[in-house]
Amino acid sequence: MTSTEHHLDEAVDRALRGPARDRNPRVGCVLVDPAGQVVGAGHHAGAGSPHAEVAALASAGDLASGATAYVTLEPCNHHGRTGPCARALRDAGVVRVVYAVPDPTAQAGGGAAWLRAHGIPVERCAHPAAEALVSDWARARTLGRPHVTWKIASTLDGRVAAADGSSRWITSAEARQDAHRLRSRVDAVVVGTGTALADDPALTARTPDGAAAPVQPVRVVVGLRDLPPGARLGLGPDPALHLRTRDPHEVLAALTARGVHSVLLEGGPTLAGAFWRAGCVDEVLVYLAPALLGAGASAVPDLGVRTIDDCVRLELAEVRPVGPDLRLRLVPGRLAPSTPPGHPAVHALVPPVPSSEED
Ligand SMILES: NC(=O)c1ccc[n+]([C@@H]2O[C@H](COP(=O)([O-])OP(=O)(O)OC[C@H]3O[C@@H](n4cnc5c(N)ncnc54)[C@H](OP(=O)(O)O)[C@@H]3O)[C@@H](O)[C@H]2O)c1
Repeated sequence: MTSTEHHLDEAVDRALRGPARDRNPRVGCVLVDPAGQVVGAGHHAGAGSPHAEVAALASAGDLASGATAYVTLEPCNHHGRTGPCARALRDAGVVRVVYAVPDPTAQAGGGAAWLRAHGIPVERCAHPAAEALVSDWARARTLGRPHVTWKIASTLDGRVAAADGSSRWITSAEARQDAHRLRSRVDAVVVGTGTALADDPALTARTPDGAAAPVQPVRVVVGLRDLPPGARLGLGPDPALHLRTRDPHEVLAALTARGVHSVLLEGGPTLAGAFWRAGCVDEVLVYLAPALLGAGASAVPDLGVRTIDDCVRLELAEVRPVGPDLRLRLVPGRLAPSTPPGHPAVHALVPPVPSSEED
């Protein structure tokens, strides 16, 4: 391992002290003197608090002069609450800056160019752990809303519930465990009141032994109806957020304001259809069970397709077996003629939610 990688690892460790769920990404910074000693370190503790560079400079004091700054994200170049970090680094006498991930935002980007223009050498060093810190945030910034993965558990004939409304369990324990792992990796899990009333789900993320996963998503129920007292979504230390709207854009705006960058949509056909029609689905995960129902709700309501030429087609990005079931990952087609009006088709280029293979 090079010393640059080592110091970026240290910066990542610092960044991990920041909140896992925030409007801003987790960022860490270490300041290293010419002898290789760390003389300052800091992290971003969430929106409204100083940036990691400013925190590191404060901890280093005069020792920052002559140091190299290792930062997980390109230093910002905008006047937020703490002023541009690029300028703060220069003013403190930092002589070199190494960062891992370019800032993708027009608002804050450009710090590296500003530093170079002011005579400070800047290097970019790709670092996977630093990229993982900001990937959900960067993706949401690019989309202008949280990234949405629509999860479906379906039979071979596309049914998501039996004729009596029951849907537990269409897929295997292995598929459900895979879905729990996904829940622990997204910021929010969303269902409609229809699913909440029919299934009384907890929507928590659980480990294979049934214990609560250490990181839980925000649980969200969408719709106008009340849930009954004692509904599992109302239980626990953090009861589900009930958004009394039927508008997917309002849902995503409300979640953005709460620092949510990724959503797992686990609702029934009504809510899923509304998200699809609104162009708010970026990825579809289907757990396909080798089973037939022959009747019952299908994955989406009527999409207005009347002839096969208007069939909505998706691109198959990945298929893999999960226990006795198949998991299909699909993205709205870039060039598919039937891409729904307003659907942001470029999302085919967006990286997927990490799969359990990346454990
Ligand atoms: N196999 C699977 O993957 C899976 C997953 C989830 C659910 N299910 C099954 O699906 C069934 C429930 O389906 P569902 O469609 O009723 O559930 P849903 O989509 O989760 O909830 C539908 C309800 O959400 C509200 N809503 C929110 N946005 C809306 C919009 N844009 N338009 C209309 N209504 C909106 C409405 O209730 P308000 O009147 O309160 O506004 C509506 O009745 C159950 O049988 C469940 O077991 C299966």
